[in-house]
Amino acid sequence: MTAVRLAPSILAADIGHLAEEIARAEAGGADMIHVDVMDGRYVPNLTFGAKVITAARKATRLPLDVHLMVVEPERYIASFADAGASNFIFHPDATRHVQRQLVAVRELGMRAGLALNPAASLTEVAEVLDDLDQLLLMTVNPGFGGQHYIPAATDKIRRARALLDRVGSRIWLEVDGGITPETIAEVHGAGADTFVAGSAVFGTPDPGEALRELRRRCAVNV
Ligand code: DX5
Ligand code: ZN
Repeated sequence: MTAVRLAPSILAADIGHLAEEIARAEAGGADMIHVDVMDGRYVPNLTFGAKVITAARKATRLPLDVHLMVVEPERYIASFADAGASNFIFHPDATRHVQRQLVAVRELGMRAGLALNPAASLTEVAEVLDDLDQLLLMTVNPGFGGQHYIPAATDKIRRARALLDRVGSRIWLEVDGGITPETIAEVHGAGADTFVAGSAVFGTPDPGEALRELRRRCAVNV
């Protein structure tokens, strides 16, 4: 069975109790903590910066999966590495020299990731697979939590999995947006191995139980 890595997004957490929320997710079996950085320009919403990454770093030993929905993400590579980011994921249409930035991310010891919006083609990453550690497919349009999964994404996940398998790539295939107990089995069945979930985890009374439920739903794909 394809691996199941769960990355709860603190976008849906109670930020006033960030450390406790992260501790609950870790105790409930989270594999990493997803941090959504938005700049109000690449997406119409503002969220966190290095300071919250530092706070999250102090709250857990889990990897921090940092997703930059910002223009010119290269401006944050050094400061986010210092703050304790483990994975640095950006959108290729937010910068001019994608391959250079991927190399810079790895040079500072982080895993390098690219995120594709629903309308973006897989060809945007085909030439840089060797420079990538993870490919994140947005399954909603970025900017907000709590949106509905876009059904057409399932076929794109299948095509991404086929592309990675064809070239023997072992990078993570991650999905983000609208991942719930109702959608995760289909998405996992299509070949995703890493799952961001915000409202389906932190929007519930028991994040640990929510994580276990998401994992159980993937078990149908054996
Ligand atoms: C959306 C963010 C997501 C968000 C997902 O732009 O990139 O990571 O937190 O939220 P849910 O799981 O509620 O769709
Ligand atoms: Zn995200």
